[in-house]
Amino acid sequence: MYSTGKKLQAAVLFAFLCAALVWSGAARVSRGQGPAMSAGAPSQTHTWQGGTNAKYVGPEACAKCHQDEAHTQHATAMGRALEPVATSDILRSNPDLSFRAGPYTYTIKRSGEQSVYTVTDGKQTVSAPILYAFGQGKAGQTYLFQRNGTFQESRVSFYKQIKGLDWTIGYERAAPPTLEEAVGRTVSTDEARSCFGCHTTGGVSGNQLQLDRMMPGVTCEACHGPGAEHIAAMEAKDLKNKRIFNPGRMSPDELSQEFCGSCHRSAEAVSANSKMHNMNNVRFQPYRLFTSRGHDPFDERLSCTVCHNAHENPKHDEAFYDSKCFACHRSGESLKSAELAKSEAEDGRDAKPCPVAAKSCGSCHMPKVELPGSHTQFTDHRIRIVREGEPYPN
Ligand code: HEC
Ligand code: HEC
Ligand code: HEC
Ligand code: HEC
Ligand code: HEC
Ligand code: HEC
Ligand code: HEC
Repeated sequence: MYSTGKKLQAAVLFAFLCAALVWSGAARVSRGQGPAMSAGAPSQTHTWQGGTNAKYVGPEACAKCHQDEAHTQHATAMGRALEPVATSDILRSNPDLSFRAGPYTYTIKRSGEQSVYTVTDGKQTVSAPILYAFGQGKAGQTYLFQRNGTFQESRVSFYKQIKGLDWTIGYERAAPPTLEEAVGRTVSTDEARSCFGCHTTGGVSGNQLQLDRMMPGVTCEACHGPGAEHIAAMEAKDLKNKRIFNPGRMSPDELSQEFCGSCHRSAEAVSANSKMHNMNNVRFQPYRLFTSRGHDPFDERLSCTVCHNAHENPKHDEAFYDSKCFACHRSGESLKSAELAKSEAEDGRDAKPCPVAAKSCGSCHMPKVELPGSHTQFTDHRIRIVREGEPYPN
């Protein structure tokens, strides 16, 4: 049922990588906030999101029949991955933000339903209303505004942990040489398309940005595709053809790598990009998990949805995650009892037990990693034995 031996595993892995390369066409680079993640190359597409003329209906329409998912999803970090300035909680409850570095003073000031981003070096001043607030401020809330008809990304971001502004992740943590650079970085149309493709619903149609129809955040149809036809079919009681994409029907590796990985960055996207081989890649869980030694990415007991419900916030309960490890690993007691070892193995728990501890597996084997300047910790999804003093394995 599960993988049979390392050779097969290696062959399958190789086949997957080849398929992934063909599938991806030209080398892709997935982007994120900050220049470090944004150099060169065309953007990633989310094939299930539909092409031009896709008919989106919005999450309220889904809520009528799917209360369970709708009840929690809108309040998750994913559901709020982008917020309009008018309703942004962070901007509303922080009406007067400021930050100083070198010759520069940054302010973000609330005025009615707007927030205005201003940078001055004492001689010259640049000011623009913020158009979009990206993120919920765990690893930063970063702002997009427009100057001379092009998008720019703010050089500073809001961080929840310090309840204030600091340099945006991925930039040099020092005052830049010119006011222009201190203001922010120009985001090309191509790059903007990828930002909105990962942080909104319906913001990208085919190859075009369509901000007038964009719905903020990763909501139902960002993951399930446009839903108008599904609703029509369900209302007509045509249950045979549901006309909606259900990622739950993908194989475990497709789900983790191609689906979640299209936003969270797949093993393929990270492996192909030499700029991503540093500590920053702790943000890319599909890549980290895929490269965990001994762990078969094709095993359904290790897919993203085993530990995460895409419609809810992550659980913070260690016992919950331990139970996921024990789906494969034998208990510590089985080291002392051959009989127990045998019966656990018969239940499919044939991976070695831990000689050190019986619970809180993740605290040692999926350590928290603090990226310098991120004001937050990420959970390293590369499951492994962490040795004292070893460098970050990237
Ligand atoms: C009129 C009621 C109705 C509305 C509105 C509705 N659905 Fe459904 N949906 C259903 C029914 C009925 C099923 C089939 C349930 C089953 O198979 O148990 C279903 C199934 C699904 C499935 C599983 C499909 C599969 O192949 O297993 C997904 C995903 C889904 N809906 C998403 C959505 C999304 C996203 C929206 C909003 C765009 C939405 N639904 C709106 C009634 C509705
Ligand atoms: C369309 C893009 C997209 C897809 C597909 C996607 N995510 Fe996300 N996800 C995001 C973005 C953007 C964020 C960051 C939200 C924020 O903090 O503003 C995020 C955040 C998260 C978080 C962190 C929540 C928190 O509280 O810190 C988890 C967990 C997560 N996603 C799991 C998944 C899983 C599992 C899948 C696949 C089933 C998935 N995501 C698919 C875009 C996506
Ligand atoms: C390939 C998909 C993708 C693209 C493109 C992308 N992001 Fe993200 N972004 C994510 C995911 C997934 C997360 C959550 C994990 C993390 O923090 O890295 C995230 C996190 C963030 C966060 C931190 C949110 C928080 O609450 O911690 C900010 C801010 C952000 N992105 C802004 C941007 C901006 C601005 C752009 C464009 C310049 C962009 N992103 C492009 C997928 C993407
Ligand atoms: C970040 C991606 C993501 C978002 C956003 C999302 N879903 Fe899902 N949804 C999934 C995944 C992944 C599955 C498959 C889960 C599984 O099989 O474990 C799923 C499954 C479902 C199912 C089938 C459930 C079943 O029992 O088989 C329904 C119905 C559904 N989602 C509705 C919704 C609705 C309604 C929304 C918006 C309120 C929504 N989803 C938002 C990723 C998402
Ligand atoms: C074996 C369980 C497990 C699996 C499988 C897993 N995760 Fe996680 N994930 C965790 C734990 C534990 C946390 C930390 C939860 C908390 O905040 O306490 C986490 C946190 C996250 C976060 C929040 C940011 C961070 O790094 O802390 C994101 C995003 C995420 N996971 C995405 C994914 C994606 C995408 C996949 C599939 C490639 C995945 N996870 C598979 C256990 C898992
Ligand atoms: C899909 C099954 C599966 C799941 C789920 C799983 N593991 Fe493993 N794990 C394995 C296999 C197979 C190995 C290879 C060696 C062996 O037989 O123990 C392994 C190896 C390890 C190793 C040794 C790695 C090395 O470099 O030698 C550690 C540590 C580990 N797992 C911890 C965990 C933890 C902690 C969890 C839960 C967060 C977990 N595993 C979840 C199957 C799994
Ligand atoms: C206090 C930290 C800690 C916790 C908690 C912990 N481990 Fe370990 N684990 C270790 C260390 C250290 C080793 C390496 C032991 C050695 O090689 O001497 C290890 C080794 C392992 C191995 C490799 C065993 C082998 O024979 O190669 C596996 C598998 C493993 N742990 C799984 C788990 C699981 C599953 C849990 C949760 C039930 C867990 N660990 C909890 C620290 C921990």
